[in-house]
Amino acid sequence: MEGQGEHHKPKKILCVGLVCLDIISVVDAFPQEDSDSRCVSQRWQRGGNASNSCTVLSLLGSPCAFMGSLCAGPVASFILEDFQRFQVEVHSPHERAACVTPTSLVISSAATGSRTILHMNSNIPDVTCEDFSAVDLSAFKWIHWEGRNADEQLKMMAEVARYNAASPPQHRIVVSVEIEKPREKLYQLFPHADVVFVSKDVARHLGFHTPQSALQGLRGRLRAGAVMICPWAEKGADAVDADGTLLHSDAFPPERLLDTLGAGDTFNAAVIHKLANGCRLQDALTFGCRVAGTKCGFHGYDGIA
Ligand code: FRU
Repeated sequence: MEGQGEHHKPKKILCVGLVCLDIISVVDAFPQEDSDSRCVSQRWQRGGNASNSCTVLSLLGSPCAFMGSLCAGPVASFILEDFQRFQVEVHSPHERAACVTPTSLVISSAATGSRTILHMNSNIPDVTCEDFSAVDLSAFKWIHWEGRNADEQLKMMAEVARYNAASPPQHRIVVSVEIEKPREKLYQLFPHADVVFVSKDVARHLGFHTPQSALQGLRGRLRAGAVMICPWAEKGADAVDADGTLLHSDAFPPERLLDTLGAGDTFNAAVIHKLANGCRLQDALTFGCRVAGTKCGFHGYDGIA
């Protein structure tokens, strides 16, 4: 049956990438260097792009799973409990036990909604293709990679391509990738996904000053039939369809910009949620902007659904 696993469970969306701890200090206004000020509030939050996207997928009603490295200890317990709270299934390789969980200190400014991130990832190795091989691909209809260890991720994508080649069309897995950081190695991933999210940062780094010029300029790097999506903060987001048609959605800013942490991860999740349910690219793009905009109006993700 289409969309169903072997045991008639609905197929899930798998996100592969980072999970970390976000220690968030909300301040009235961004502090001066070497000052001593009081925060409005402080909280721990599960973070990391792929992990945040799972939270949003789940809130939107898409059954999903996360795959990424975790370290044993109290922080991992916090993270695992939180995944459970959002009903996100977790695939984590065991041998990462001796590492330190990546952590971000985040200053979230209530005056502007800006989020300033200080991220530390000391020694945790990313998921490898060998780890990925242990996963039963028949449980998934869509796999999203947060571009990180590109060499290994290419091998994982090749494994999915082999699985797809041996499967009937209704069981093929759609592949998406986020190319967010301007790192040369990640650019190898462009031609290996059906849906490519390219950030404003990467677009600019490659010399493009508008989303439209980025999509036109980078389209040649995609494989045939693929689409590319380029979110551009308060300018909304643009996309290029498989036939070269350019699409656009305006942003939907909230009345008051409160918390932009994870807005991009929210956008990706909302777009994937719609596309995985058969929506047209334009509708998915508009929905992505709407949900990401809504998210910026409150702290965290719980208000999404
Ligand atoms: C937001 C985020 C945070 C994390 C940081 C890592 O997109 O995933 O949750 O601390 O980025 O770069």
